[in-house]
Amino acid sequence: MLTPGSGVLVDVEAAGVSFPEVLQTRGEYQLKPPLPFIPGSEVAGTVRSAPEGSPLSAGDRVAAFPMLGGFAEVAVSPEFLTFPLPDALDAKQGAALILNYHTAWFSMVIRGRLKAGETVLVHGAAGGVGTASIQVANGVGARAIAVVSSDEKEEVARAAGAAEVVRSDGAWKDEAKELSGGGVDLVVDPVGGDRFTDSLRSLAEGGRVVVVGFTAGSIPEVKVNRLLLNNVEVIGAGWGAYVMGKPELNREIGGEIAKLIDAGHVEPVVGASFPLGEAAEALKLIDGRGATGKVVLEL
Ligand SMILES: NC(=O)c1ccc[n+]([C@@H]2O[C@H](COP(=O)([O-])OP(=O)(O)OC[C@H]3O[C@@H](n4cnc5c(N)ncnc54)[C@H](OP(=O)(O)O)[C@@H]3O)[C@@H](O)[C@H]2O)c1
Repeated sequence: MLTPGSGVLVDVEAAGVSFPEVLQTRGEYQLKPPLPFIPGSEVAGTVRSAPEGSPLSAGDRVAAFPMLGGFAEVAVSPEFLTFPLPDALDAKQGAALILNYHTAWFSMVIRGRLKAGETVLVHGAAGGVGTASIQVANGVGARAIAVVSSDEKEEVARAAGAAEVVRSDGAWKDEAKELSGGGVDLVVDPVGGDRFTDSLRSLAEGGRVVVVGFTAGSIPEVKVNRLLLNNVEVIGAGWGAYVMGKPELNREIGGEIAKLIDAGHVEPVVGASFPLGEAAEALKLIDGRGATGKVVLEL
């Protein structure tokens, strides 16, 4: 759908499943394709054919972002959102690469201006965006404090590389301030809901909260006097809306992620995997807050 009439044809081996697909099944996502449609924003597999002039050719292993149509045996993806998949990553990890890691880079580095030596608080840290954010933070030399809701998710966040883990039902704001020596520099928030004010309170002077999503269901409101009093910022990060019209930026972010894969920082955390025919079960797992890492469909 992103490049009608052209694109890279990919024989799909694995398809990533994410929160937007849950919303799409209810018609609650910003993208509302006419029914019937095939969901599936990202896949990994082998190139069947590539447009003329593309650096890709038949037989290449790739991670690709078709936006729709990924829950299928064959998908079509724009050339600028199709990236060589290094041997270090398997197909399921490839299907977990683009949405989460490009979002993490875009949110933290491009929008949030994250620098080496800073501390990042990551909400929903055992989830897809969360685990990617921990790894990208480590890759740029920052330190990640993870916020999670259970023992199992704590383990996942630690395995992803979190330096510290705090609990969403505990005194996480005070703990984060203590662990960061007075306040964190950046908060990555894919969760939203009623924790938002405490995210602002957990910041150091000059700190930023990057708004990434609202898995908790409600959209927080900000009393802007808090921003003035503490010299902090709230920043929106909508990856898709920003990058889709900018092919070069996608290649640039893909290049940065490739460097982090080579350096061993990016290793997508894959959770549950289902056969294609059980896609509905995969969506229910995410909807029920039961997913850790990336949920994938295998073909
Ligand atoms: N802005 C962008 O460009 C962009 C790009 C990609 C994704 N997103 C958004 O980012 C969000 C996270 O995506 P994801 O793939 O990381 O999701 P995910 O893997 O399902 O993780 C989300 C995390 O949210 C937490 N959570 C808190 N309350 C929840 C609830 N009521 N239901 C479900 N989860 C809840 C859970 O962690 P705990 O149980 O530990 O609290 C969960 O691990 C989604 O809203 C997605 O649409 C935005």
